[in-house]
Amino acid sequence: MGQYKILILGATGLVGQATVKALIKQKVSVTAGVRDISKAKELMAYGAKVIQANMGFDQQKLVTILSKFDVLFIVTPGHADRINLTVNTINAAKQANMKYVVMVSDTSAHNYESIFGKQFGTIEQELKQSGLSFCILRLPIFIDNLWGSMETIKYQNIFYGPIDGNKKYITVAVQDAALAAASVLTHPFNHVGKTYTIYSDYKSSNELASLYSLALGRPITYKNIMYEGTKQTLLKYLPEWYVDGYLELYKLIEKQDLSQILCSYDFKNLTNQSPTTHLNWMWQNFKYF
Ligand SMILES: NC(=O)c1ccc[n+]([C@@H]2O[C@H](COP(=O)([O-])OP(=O)(O)OC[C@H]3O[C@@H](n4cnc5c(N)ncnc54)[C@H](OP(=O)(O)O)[C@@H]3O)[C@@H](O)[C@H]2O)c1
Repeated sequence: MGQYKILILGATGLVGQATVKALIKQKVSVTAGVRDISKAKELMAYGAKVIQANMGFDQQKLVTILSKFDVLFIVTPGHADRINLTVNTINAAKQANMKYVVMVSDTSAHNYESIFGKQFGTIEQELKQSGLSFCILRLPIFIDNLWGSMETIKYQNIFYGPIDGNKKYITVAVQDAALAAASVLTHPFNHVGKTYTIYSDYKSSNELASLYSLALGRPITYKNIMYEGTKQTLLKYLPEWYVDGYLELYKLIEKQDLSQILCSYDFKNLTNQSPTTHLNWMWQNFKYF
């Protein structure tokens, strides 16, 4: 274990940071590539080596950085220009003779008529055609997005969303995405050319309300405020292109598109662990809600 020199780009984000921590917990040496070193204090305190690396650096600068590593984890950024940033990084990895690349994608990646589907579909194609040895981790909606409902759950006992509360859909806990990524990064050549779907739970919003009620010991309800209501709420925190892309995922859930409902055994197969259900997640974090 740990014989590869691993670099994680996008290491200050949710998935990147959790993956760095998962690897360090397994005593695997890892380097975190961050845009702004001042944001990496927690990673350093945890024991990660930290370097400055930007997916938007010019090719030669990026090639020089990547040449020092064997295995690269591209945590695709939630950035409007993520196609160009990621393709720039894939091209640099190729020039740097990177042995292996793991990349975060989205379960909607095949869905070219949606914003995220087009972005992730395009970068998945680029990676597949690059000639690099690769593995793609497709993620559905994060359980951790529930942090965005912390105030309304805490003060109103309600969480809001844009769809019918009976529609079931898959979600992933960031900690599970990180464990799956750590498993691939430490044994990359067991997973060449694979595309995995990492999900943790499959529930409807009404089922989640019952589980949160159980975990918190008081009644929590789900309220459908439709797309426009949800959009206006999310626009307070996120750019419009991202909100529109995110709401398209809920339209796919309403249609019960396979990208939002297909359960796989990939997490269990990769980690040999049980996933973090919504109930587990709420038990872990109940004091904040
Ligand atoms: N939230 C969901 O429900 C969900 C579901 C499925 C997939 N996804 C996708 O999964 C991916 C990972 O999620 P996340 O929450 O970990 O992402 P995130 O919070 O957007 O973090 C992305 C990371 O990329 C970094 N970054 C941005 N621009 C960069 C650049 N030019 N060069 C290098 N790094 C750059 C950010 O650094 P800074 O800290 O410097 O900004 C951050 O560390 C995202 O693409 C997200 O859209 C999200």
